[in-house]
Amino acid sequence: MKTIKDVANLAGVSVATVSRALNKSGYVSDKSRQKVEAAIKELDFYPNEVARSLFQKKSKLIGLLLPDISNPFFPLVAKGVEDKVNERGYNLILGNVQENPLKESEYIRTFAQNNVAGVLSAVESNSTKLKNMPFVMLDRVTSDKEYSVHSDDYQGGILAATAISERKPGLVVVMVGPRTVSNSLVRLAGSVKLLEENKLTYHLFETESFQFDSAQESAHRLFEMFPNVSSIIASNDIHALTIMREAIRRGLTIPEDLQVIGYDDNPYSKLMYPSLSTIAQPAYQIGYKGAEILCNRIEGLKVVEKNIQLPVKIEIRESLRKKEYE
Ligand code: RIB
Repeated sequence: MKTIKDVANLAGVSVATVSRALNKSGYVSDKSRQKVEAAIKELDFYPNEVARSLFQKKSKLIGLLLPDISNPFFPLVAKGVEDKVNERGYNLILGNVQENPLKESEYIRTFAQNNVAGVLSAVESNSTKLKNMPFVMLDRVTSDKEYSVHSDDYQGGILAATAISERKPGLVVVMVGPRTVSNSLVRLAGSVKLLEENKLTYHLFETESFQFDSAQESAHRLFEMFPNVSSIIASNDIHALTIMREAIRRGLTIPEDLQVIGYDDNPYSKLMYPSLSTIAQPAYQIGYKGAEILCNRIEGLKVVEKNIQLPVKIEIRESLRKKEYE
C-alpha cells in the first residue's frame, strides 16, 4: 500500500504539506496542491482512515444502534440513515442489539474505540450511555430532552381503533406491545381513547416482544383466551400476519369471521393474502431525517427542529371488513 511519504517524494514536497492538503488544514499553495493531487492519482493512494481519524480526533464513521434487524421495520430505518450519511460523506457501523443489554454496551464501546463522529439509536435505554458523543434518538423516543425523530404513535392508535370500530367490531381484542417500549403504551392510549369514546367493549392482550420468535406463541394464546374474537388491533405487522395465519389454520375466514389491523406497514403486509390493513410508519424518513440532524450537529450546523414527529397513515386492505354504510 502506498504511503504518504511516497506521495511526498513523487510530488517533491514535505510529508507535512501532503498531510495539510489531505486534511484541508493549514496553508498549501495551489502549485503544491496540484502536485500532491497528481501524485495521489498516479500512485492510486488513499489515506489510512484510522491514522486520519486519530489526527483529526474524529472519524468519518457514524454508529447506528437498532433493537432487531430481523424485524422488517428496522432495515427501512437503516436505509434512510445510510442514504443520508453517505450523502454527507460518512460511513455507517450497524449495531444490532437484539434487545440484549450486553450487546448494546459492547457496540457503544466499539463506536467509541472507532472514534465515531456520532450515533443514531432506536434502542430506548441508552441515551445516558451515549452522553459523550453527539447522538439522535430514533423511533423509540421517551422525551424531548434529546434530539429525536419518531412518528405519531398516539394518532396511529386512534386510526387503528377507528378502522375497527367502523366495521361491525364484535368482540374486540387490543394487543398491547411490550410495555418496556414507550411506543406500545402511546399507541394503546390512542386506541383505548377511541374505543371508550365509542362505548365499545374491548379486551387487552399483553405481549412481551415485537419479535418473530414470540409471535406464534402469542397468536395461539390469544385464540385460546378469546375463541370468539371478531376484531384484533395487533401491536405490529409481525403479530398481525402471524394471527392471520393462525386464524386461517383454525378455519376462520378473514375478514368475515375475523378482521385484523397491524402496525408498521412492513413490506410483507401488502403481499399477504388477504392483504393486511395496517398503520404505515415513515420508517425510511425517520432514519433519513434523524441522520440529517446528526450530521448537522457533528458539523456544527444549525438544527432547525430538535424533535421531529412524523405523521402516520392508514392503509386499508383486505383484512378489514367493509364499513357498515359502505
Ligand atoms: O415492529 C417493531 C416495532 O418496534 C415498530 O412498531 C417500531 O415502532 C419499533 O419501535
